[in-house]
Parts: sequence; C-alpha cells; structure tokens
Amino acid sequence: MNKSLRPAIIAGNWKMNKLSMDTMSFFYDLKPLIKEAKCDVVVCVPFTDIATAAVASKGAKCKLGAQNCHFEPKGAFTGEVSVDMLRDAQVEYVIIGHSERRQYFAETDETVNKKLKAALAGGLIPILCVGESLEQRENGETLALLESQIKKAYEGIDAKDAKKIVVAYEPIWAIGTGKTATADEAEEAIAHIRGVLASLYGDTAQNISILYGGSMNAKNAAELVAKPNIDGGLIGGASLVVDDFVTIINAASAQN
Ligand code: PGA
Repeated sequence: MNKSLRPAIIAGNWKMNKLSMDTMSFFYDLKPLIKEAKCDVVVCVPFTDIATAAVASKGAKCKLGAQNCHFEPKGAFTGEVSVDMLRDAQVEYVIIGHSERRQYFAETDETVNKKLKAALAGGLIPILCVGESLEQRENGETLALLESQIKKAYEGIDAKDAKKIVVAYEPIWAIGTGKTATADEAEEAIAHIRGVLASLYGDTAQNISILYGGSMNAKNAAELVAKPNIDGGLIGGASLVVDDFVTIINAASAQN
C-alpha cells in the first residue's frame, strides 16, 4: 500500500452555513495558516458564497468546491446550477451524492452517475460520497452496499476518468452526530472500496484518493489519516472553525 501514489486531501463541507462576511473572515484567517500545508486543501462552500470565496481565497493554498451540481449543461431546470456555471465561478471540485442529498433531495445512484459524468466532462473534480445507514451497518450490509454504490456510480466511466474522482466514505450514522467510525472501522470500509475499485480498474485504484467523513475533528483526525488506505477527510462541522480545520490539515500534512 503506497500512499504516495495519490494526493492527501482535506476538504471542508460547509453545508448550509456562513454568509459572505463569515466567508471573508474565514479565508482571511485561514490563508496564513496553510502556507506550509503538505496536503491538498479544498473548501466546499454554499453557492451564494462562491464569488466571495473566490476573491477571499486568492493566493491561498486551497481550492474551491461546490456541494452539488446538475447533470444537464443548461436549460429549464429552475433552481439548479450547472458544471459550466461552477467552472465560470472558479470552482474546481464538487461534492456529488452526499447522503443528505440522497436522503432529503431524492438523489439516486443513477443521478449520481450522471452528475459524475457531467462533472468529469466539464473539468470539475468530483468528490463522490458513499456510506451506509446505521440500520444497514447493524444488519451487516455495509460492505455489500458500498460495493453497489461504487459500481453504480462508476458505470460507464473509464479508468482515465475514474482516477480523477475523489471518493469519500461517509457512514451516515457518523455524520453530524459526534459518533465517529473507529479508525479500524473506517479503514476496513475504505480498503473494501479500494478493492471494489481495483476489481473495476486494476492498479488505477492505487491512484484514487479515498477520504473518511463523519464527525472527523481536530482530536481524531491524526489517528484516522494514519491508516494505510485513508487519504484524508471530508469535514463538516469542524471545517466551519478555522483552528479546528487547520489542526486537521496539519494532521494530514504530517503523513507526507
Ligand atoms: P460532519 O459532516 O463532519 O459534520 O459529520 C461530514 C459530512 O457530512 O461531509
């Protein structure tokens, strides 16, 4: 297992938080603290904060991400945002298939697959989220569910594109609950995901960054990112606070 074959990434997911003033001060504070970061840093902000974040993050060692996109290039899709619109706004990453979108906004494996293809075609780096519910874990369905989510998400995507996708394993029961998967549980699930990717793409699976997400914070990050298959994190709550986010970035940097 060679972690140097793929980038370490710490990505923040602000979800539906922060107004433009908060965005300005966040990047003002973050910028000097991540100059020496040895991992890729991404901040996925709400659509309405993108323009402010693009200005406020200029010169900072981080990239901008969005939290969703539509799969159609344009047209009569009221309330939706296209890949080209995000690119135009200087966004480089997009979260796709977050469990909150699957749960509250009826996203399916099929729409996730379409969005992945649209993002790849349009030059955005997708952060694909997969993960099981508490019930699925308790029923022993976790590994089968992950395999099915991964296979459906990657349907029709070739190896060249597959390695551009960042995967985030996010057990639903750990998101926003303060309940983290243990480092061993996270490693087991992520190693399984890499195995599924290897069954689809062979050695290319070694080039795909797979992150952990779900109540990852300043205290538990170091133990998680030390695992051989865990290449970083997708951070919700703890990414809203600059000091916590930087501690997590430093933990990932220390692995490189
Ligand atoms: P959390 O969220 O860190 O607040 O649990 C993670 C996520 O949903 O991406």
